[in-house]
Amino acid sequence: MIQTFSKINRVSGTLTLPGDKSIAHRALLISSLADGKSVISNLPNSDDLNSTIKCLESLGIKVEKKSDAAFVYGKGFKGYYPPNKSLNAGNSGTTARLLAGILSAQNFESIIEGDKSLSSRPMKRIIEPLMLMGCNIKGENDEKLPLQIYPVEKISAIKYNLPVPSAQIKSSILLAGLHSEDESSVIEVKQSRNHTENLLGLKVVNDDDKIISTVSKKNYPVPNEYFIPGDISTAMFFVVLALLTQNSELNIKNISLNPTRTIALNLLMKMGGNIEVDLKGESNNEPYGDLIVKSSKLSNVKIDTESIPLIIDEIPILSVAGIFSEGFFEIKSASELRVKESDRIKSLATNFSIIGLDVEEFSDGFRISGGIKYSGKPFQSFGDHRVAMTFAILSLLLEKGGKVDGFESVRISNPDFITQVASISN
Ligand code: S3P
Repeated sequence: MIQTFSKINRVSGTLTLPGDKSIAHRALLISSLADGKSVISNLPNSDDLNSTIKCLESLGIKVEKKSDAAFVYGKGFKGYYPPNKSLNAGNSGTTARLLAGILSAQNFESIIEGDKSLSSRPMKRIIEPLMLMGCNIKGENDEKLPLQIYPVEKISAIKYNLPVPSAQIKSSILLAGLHSEDESSVIEVKQSRNHTENLLGLKVVNDDDKIISTVSKKNYPVPNEYFIPGDISTAMFFVVLALLTQNSELNIKNISLNPTRTIALNLLMKMGGNIEVDLKGESNNEPYGDLIVKSSKLSNVKIDTESIPLIIDEIPILSVAGIFSEGFFEIKSASELRVKESDRIKSLATNFSIIGLDVEEFSDGFRISGGIKYSGKPFQSFGDHRVAMTFAILSLLLEKGGKVDGFESVRISNPDFITQVASISN
């Protein structure tokens, strides 16, 4: 579907966004492990979250949805029912990789499959550490989906140095590690998002530039109440829109302010963005609060390699901020962009070229320079929700507007994008 956008002059008012995707997946999975009823509020109604819910239902977990809340009736330690069909993670890497960690520690067989994009993404990164824990898990075609998971009676603890800074790998190991009496540790040199550690209340030690997270059966979850703060990665699209339109002031309510997720926000402030952060509270060790964003003049800054894993989801929208800022926008050391929902380096380069910008592609990044020339051709989503929203925002900023082909992929994380834009434009 091709969606057309006209230029927006200013945005104002208040925006409340659906709950954070990463925290919501974990709240559902952790609730399903606990023995009894957990309550989750502000759960997003997106395709990715629905993939997790459907997988859990196939494992015998009842999930009752009431508007934006869910009641999850967990079945306790090794209490899942063996599924009678393959589990479909859809487009969701978090569902596939985190669930694989849990299922690898069970005493029944299961299969995890996914859509075309997910089936092309690397799974060796979780298969290797899980096999070291004594799990029996196999991928297909160069260790990709479908994953075939075989029963094991017992798993062993490991100490694992994360070779790629990835919260999905870390969480897969930690969730498997909940099923062993002995302590497993995951060691990171570059930090990745820490929601699994927060929601399970794990011990995390910062030692000599290393971050060590430890888990064992002692951390096995009990029923709980979860409030999912608004998704900061979704909020970033609107932050950039408010910064780059004239006379704008936007208040975005109850957004996740987890310090492993606010790095892109900090970067925009460093670029000159007028953004106020009002910390409101904390729920399940996850801080949240409001953002007040005002129109600003931005300049590009050098983006250091340390921050790349923590801004990986925001690089597409940051690059839009970059093209309207003084200087040029450059990303390096971000080869992980190639294995996201689409090859995001290629997706961004292709789309920026459509409006005449010069994009130099590197194996691990890209650099954008030059000026905008209209071609009238639509941007492409490449079936990637963040690419669709990035070029929708860019279209809203362009003098002549723009079109996004394959816009429907926003359903994956934020089906209400159009309504949200309409509610703040005037
Ligand atoms: C996620 C972690 C990140 C991120 C993804 C969600 C998570 O992936 O890109 O959108 O919920 O753990 P990696 O950990 O593989 O970098």
